Amino acid sequence: MNNELDWKHLPFGYYPTDFNVRCTYKDGKWGEIEVTPSDKIELHMAATCLHYGQECFEGLKAFRGVDGKIRIFRMHDNAERMRQSAEGIEMQPVPEEIFNEMCIKAVKLNERFVPPYGSGASLYIRPLEIGVSPSIGVKSATEYVFMVMVTPVGPYFKTGFGCTDICIMRQYDRVAPRGTGRYKIGGNYAASLTATEHAHALGYSAVLFLDPKEKKYLDECGPANFFAIIDGKYVTPKSDSILPSITNRALQTLAQEMGIEVVARQITVDELEKATEAGACGTAAVISPVGTIRDLDNERDYVISADRKPGPVCTALYEKLNAIRLGEEPDTHNWNTIVE
Ligand code: PLP
Ligand code: COI
Repeated sequence: MNNELDWKHLPFGYYPTDFNVRCTYKDGKWGEIEVTPSDKIELHMAATCLHYGQECFEGLKAFRGVDGKIRIFRMHDNAERMRQSAEGIEMQPVPEEIFNEMCIKAVKLNERFVPPYGSGASLYIRPLEIGVSPSIGVKSATEYVFMVMVTPVGPYFKTGFGCTDICIMRQYDRVAPRGTGRYKIGGNYAASLTATEHAHALGYSAVLFLDPKEKKYLDECGPANFFAIIDGKYVTPKSDSILPSITNRALQTLAQEMGIEVVARQITVDELEKATEAGACGTAAVISPVGTIRDLDNERDYVISADRKPGPVCTALYEKLNAIRLGEEPDTHNWNTIVE
């Protein structure tokens, strides 16, 4: 166990760990898995990742459970999404066995950085793949490197499981209507930075992006999906331009099991009037309950939580999700991979 870290107050940031794991695709095949203590990489300056954005990544978490065991949440789903992202930008997909083996290896090698049970923190696992062969013409690489690094983290939004305020602004798009929004690729995040910085400067923690075609429907919330409780139902945007969140899928399953109807559909901005709760959800954000949503262009506030307390549905879902990830409740959906 690492004694230098203040587990209960970890930020969502990069803290160096002991090792990371790498694998190279070259001459038409994936090579041996390598372990290194270095957090640097050497790259050709004409690598396709640097010029043409051939980069995709994932984000998942490992938790120390009530029984002392380490569990990785929904790793297989992240492997599958990473495959889709890679194929979406003409990169060589990482076989699921390599993805899984490397995530598990990276966690095991850095076991002393897995936060203790009860700290509220977790070990964030960040797999990433880049095109590394040189090209000046716009085309996909012939060589790729897949890496898995890990770092201990606390909550993404400073408020943790407290209400956060977000805003709607229409002058920026994160993605195009038939673009790459459903993939987890660096380019989407680069395209979101100006809007996000703008929102931060105005005092909001994230932008609730609207659909890029009509600017009529809710899309997603910065680095997280969005859901609202409307007429007692769990309502979440159905859209081709958002990342299909694995956390959101888990919450939908849990909501249904609690007897709450789940609806994935287009949601117009003015429907927020009827929302009794709302949340941003994702691996990093977990559930961040939303306090107020400011529509900047129309100077209108949608006050979701007047007392600034997380509502009953958000609270129940948050507790249930955590209980499963920490081994406090049975994992009936086989979401956890126990690291032996
Ligand atoms: N949307 C975006 C843009 C994200 O970056 C993330 C984070 O991964 C999510 C949604 C949530 O996805 P997940 O729950 O799979 O982490
Ligand atoms: C995640 O939730 O895993 C993310 O990747 C969000 C963000 C830090 C990019």
